[in-house]
Amino acid sequence: MDQRLKKSLAKVAEFYDQRKVGAVGPLGFRRSTDLMTLLACADRLIGEEIIKPDETAFLDLGCADGRVNLFFSYLVRLSVGIELDEWTLEEYDPLRGELENTLEKEGLLSPPANIFLFHGDSTDKTLLASIEPKAGIGIESFDLFYTYLVMHEEFAEMLAERAKRGCIFMVYGLNRILPRYPGFRLLKDLSPMEGILALYQKE
Ligand SMILES: C[S@@+](CC[C@H](N)C(=O)[O-])C[C@H]1O[C@@H](n2cnc3c(N)ncnc32)[C@H](O)[C@@H]1O
Repeated sequence: MDQRLKKSLAKVAEFYDQRKVGAVGPLGFRRSTDLMTLLACADRLIGEEIIKPDETAFLDLGCADGRVNLFFSYLVRLSVGIELDEWTLEEYDPLRGELENTLEKEGLLSPPANIFLFHGDSTDKTLLASIEPKAGIGIESFDLFYTYLVMHEEFAEMLAERAKRGCIFMVYGLNRILPRYPGFRLLKDLSPMEGILALYQKE
């Protein structure tokens, strides 16, 4: 990663990490990924070719306000998210607008135009079928999947059935106990990255 990209990602992380949701209080189900932690994982994810810049197609299952999508948009070819709650997804545009102003003022890189967010249930077949006409590829062509510990077992089951062999499923929010998912191999040498991100490869 060059310095300007790294600086831009650090600003994106700082911006969203100051606006975390659900760390305390009733919105616990909506907890936000710590983007500084993802930034700490980024070089290794690229070095291990889990992320191939400008090649990888990324999908966040349960994307909330799209912050993980925005972060990864700089590093991947396509950044897609699916969110069940419409009111949560509606936070994406105002936050992005505010962030873009900050980035511009500081002469940093704007996020690329490769983000597509969908409202619906990530396990719903009709919703999944609606991705391809808009984003250009279907569920079976994504390389990298992500979830922050919501419905991870159901998502793994859906991916075991629908995703391509060799794709990676990243589960954020884990620690010492790393679950196993049928049809996936835990990448033991890499997991948990930064003590929190487990990586699984579809067999
Ligand atoms: C813990 S938050 C994580 C948000 C974001 N990915 C992040 O890491 O900052 C999980 C989100 O998943 C959504 N969610 C739960 N089940 C879902 C499903 N079946 N399909 C789509 N979204 C779902 C919730 O509404 C919530 O906003």
